[in-house]
Amino acid sequence: MKVKVFRFHPGMEKPRYDTFMIEPTQGKTVLTALFEAQSRYDDSLAFRYSCRGAVCGTCAMLINRVPRLACRTQLGSLVAGNLDLPLSHYVLPLLSEPWDKREEILVEPLPNLPVIKDLIVDMETFFTCYRAIEPVFRPGDPDPEKERLMTPETVRELERYTTCILCAACFAACPVNGKNPRYMGPAALAKLYRFRIDPREQQGAARLSSADRPDGWWACEFQTNCRRVCPKGVPPDMAIGHARQELKKIKKDRDSGRKEP
Ligand code: SF4
Ligand code: FES
Repeated sequence: MKVKVFRFHPGMEKPRYDTFMIEPTQGKTVLTALFEAQSRYDDSLAFRYSCRGAVCGTCAMLINRVPRLACRTQLGSLVAGNLDLPLSHYVLPLLSEPWDKREEILVEPLPNLPVIKDLIVDMETFFTCYRAIEPVFRPGDPDPEKERLMTPETVRELERYTTCILCAACFAACPVNGKNPRYMGPAALAKLYRFRIDPREQQGAARLSSADRPDGWWACEFQTNCRRVCPKGVPPDMAIGHARQELKKIKKDRDSGRKEP
């Protein structure tokens, strides 16, 4: 099988694609194929990984034009075409390289982030957005004498958002991030909403209002690419929708309160 890989390093005038022949044995992942290409054909091929178990989020890349984890994506599933995932208004990467879907697997760096080398992107913009929401639990003082109990429903709602592994697949698939570098992005907003709804958090209202601006909750166009590509099933679009509903209600209540004599 042909695996066609995006190649770039800062000294190059423009990127190119290299094609490696890889045996698609059962269970072989794209990450394993990249290791094979590196050891058999070109040891300068650069990519990022750590856990190899879909936990650390570092191996996210564009595989067949969809952001996915390389360590979790098997070559066989791509050949069968059962992972096709059309994304709306999708921002394509630097080159519009011809690609034969029947014969080749295309591997490129995540869009919406600058390429450092080959498949490695600079994640700074993504983590700047993430750090800006101050993703630290603020339970208030003093600590209670007993544990803080939550209902199973609340735990279930929180768990929708706590499984994020910060892979940036959603950020790369988001058409708004592609055109507005100031947009906070799906992962940061999902995490912000997670703190908004946590009953132990003392700054919930401030969390909600902190993104009540054009580059926050209100920038999303609900293309839902974020939810479709997330390897952990996090639904950032749902968090954004709930936050907007809540803000609209607060505004409506405030306006109707003003009208009362
Ligand atoms: S929300 Fe999903 S796609 Fe986005 S960074 Fe977290 S795990 Fe990755
Ligand atoms: S190597 Fe950690 S998620 Fe793929």
